[in-house]
Amino acid sequence: MTNYIREDEEKLSFKVNRQAFVDPKILELEREAIFSKCWLYIGHESELLNKGDYHRRKVGGRNLILTRSQDGEIRAFYNSCPHRGALVTREKCGNSKVFRCFYHAWSFNNQGELVGMPDKAGFPEDHNCDGSKNLVTVERLENYRGFIFVNYDKNAVSLEEYLGNAKEYLDLVADQAFAAEDPELGMEVLKDPQEYSVRANWKLLGENSVDLYHGIPTHKTYFEIVATRGGTMEKDTLVGEGKDLGNGHAVMEYYSAWPRPVGKWIEGYGEEAKGIIEGNIARLEEKFGKERAHRIAKKNRNIWIFPNLIINDIMAITIRTFYPIEPGYIEVSGYALAPKAENENFRQVRNDSFLEFLGPGGFATPDDNEALELCQEGFLNAKGAGWNDISKGMNRDVPQATDEAQMRAFWRRWNELITAQEVKVETK
Ligand code: FES
Ligand code: FE
Repeated sequence: MTNYIREDEEKLSFKVNRQAFVDPKILELEREAIFSKCWLYIGHESELLNKGDYHRRKVGGRNLILTRSQDGEIRAFYNSCPHRGALVTREKCGNSKVFRCFYHAWSFNNQGELVGMPDKAGFPEDHNCDGSKNLVTVERLENYRGFIFVNYDKNAVSLEEYLGNAKEYLDLVADQAFAAEDPELGMEVLKDPQEYSVRANWKLLGENSVDLYHGIPTHKTYFEIVATRGGTMEKDTLVGEGKDLGNGHAVMEYYSAWPRPVGKWIEGYGEEAKGIIEGNIARLEEKFGKERAHRIAKKNRNIWIFPNLIINDIMAITIRTFYPIEPGYIEVSGYALAPKAENENFRQVRNDSFLEFLGPGGFATPDDNEALELCQEGFLNAKGAGWNDISKGMNRDVPQATDEAQMRAFWRRWNELITAQEVKVETK
């Protein structure tokens, strides 16, 4: 058994073996121990408002259909025809009572039942008596405050138990609905997802999404823009701390120079925006009291839900998932989340803010992707034998926002699962 992390409290050192980023055997272990066993984000309740709404989603490398069936229940099916395996749904999303396979036209209602086959007479009467020709339902699907997850392990603990301490941070995101004039409308995912790929290992994107250390050097252009609007790019505007939330989940919670769409504005966005912010904060205070309202509205949160869900609640909110196709290649999906009842002009500003920083064509995401691809290239030199240093902040009592404790939380859990899986494979 290999230990992929080296942790030395005395020497205040934490290292990760670079093999973790490049070795195809590790990816195999990850597919089994992580992507087949952990809760994986599939979509948001707001994407399935009406009966028949559906989305084709690839989750943990598997093709699924997420739909609200005619009985009102949200279900996830494997998107593979029980006949000879073709994807049943090819459209990315839509509304339909029936899914019809392209190949031989078997059709299924949105509860997954086989309801039509051309030349039915060619099959025995009891062809589907046991239901084996229906779409296969994903083993588990659960919803926490609108965030829907699936799990391929039917024996997995409940989603709530799995999320544990991370629930508190998802609440701080979901509760932003109460900043809007009609909180009953909740939060909504905006159309359409951003989809892109990066030539880097999936764990590099996880680390990067909760890493403030790289913020100022990597995103210099963005900070210069923020400065022109009255924000500052001083290092001391990033004040906060990273936390280990257990189960591999982690968060970085902090104050920043950039605006917060719900509760912190800066010059350059005009008086109207300032007024809207004040209204938002007043409604949050009424609902949650001053302290929690302040936390929701003014603080940023970069949340990493183990293994591959990031919710960055910063100058806009992004939900980001990613999956490894190869050790050095990932597919990424990003979604914007916002209070549904948000003011129209304000929504426009939020969208601009989202695209400007978080979009694949914005001022930050391409910088991040460049950095991740440089790491992946750099690992080639070490042939997987070098070690990454993730010890920043271990030597101080008062944590800083640019420290790396949140990444260490992920790695400890990752190492636990991967080394256990290695033992399982070796003793088979
Ligand atoms: Fe779907 Fe034949 S593969 S109907
Ligand atoms: Fe970044």
